[in-house]
Amino acid sequence: MSEQGTPRHVAIIMDGNGRWAQQRGRPRLLGHRAGGKRLRQVVEACPGLGVEYLTVFAFSTENWKRTQIEVAGLMKLFRQHLESEAKGLEEAGVCVRFIGDRVRLEPVLQRLMAELEARTAHNTRLNLTIAINYGGRDEVARATKRLARDVAAGKLSPEEITDETLPRYLDTHVLPDPDLVIRTSGEARISNFLLWQSAYSEYEFVDTLWPDFTPDTFAEILGRFGSRSRRFGAA
Ligand code: FPP
Repeated sequence: MSEQGTPRHVAIIMDGNGRWAQQRGRPRLLGHRAGGKRLRQVVEACPGLGVEYLTVFAFSTENWKRTQIEVAGLMKLFRQHLESEAKGLEEAGVCVRFIGDRVRLEPVLQRLMAELEARTAHNTRLNLTIAINYGGRDEVARATKRLARDVAAGKLSPEEITDETLPRYLDTHVLPDPDLVIRTSGEARISNFLLWQSAYSEYEFVDTLWPDFTPDTFAEILGRFGSRSRRFGAA
């Protein structure tokens, strides 16, 4: 049993944007806009807090069920952020990656995502992974499809499929598993986020709505993580 320092990889379910806006009698999209600003601050705070990998849930495979206005507004917001933040992220040493199924996204968004990944691939100060049209079950299903193709092509035998080979087919194959998963807004669910990867993660469910989540709140949670002990199933 050992005491933990700073979590190397933190994953965040950024929840509560809608309620934050509703509490102010404003449209939900205003909450998403405020949430985007918070994300920027949290990204900036990571290197100083010792976090090497940050993974955030921006849009789930289930979020398409929201109103057409909200979905279109969120897609526009992602596009605007990709355009306005690209240079800053590159210069700040952030390596940006996207996980999720891209094929359903607008071609212009897919292009901006690929460009940002290419442009920041050499960076090492922080690894930022953004989940868009992401669902843990969908990711495992897509990974299994790729794995089955390799088996059919004779590149892999069924006996070689283990809990070490399968994750090589996941969207997150280059990332370590998250040490800590944070969900804001008081909901205590994982909602299909990093299902495979979070098998041994610590969880923190906090009441703060995402647009109110400051770097100080973040630092406080990381401090709590430091006093937890993780045994990974060992006694
Ligand atoms: C969940 O709150 C939040 C989302 C579905 C969108 C998250 C998007 C951002 C923070 C925008 C910035 C992101 C990027 C990548 C630029 P909710 O709408 O479910 O809130 P509610 O539970 O109060 O309704």
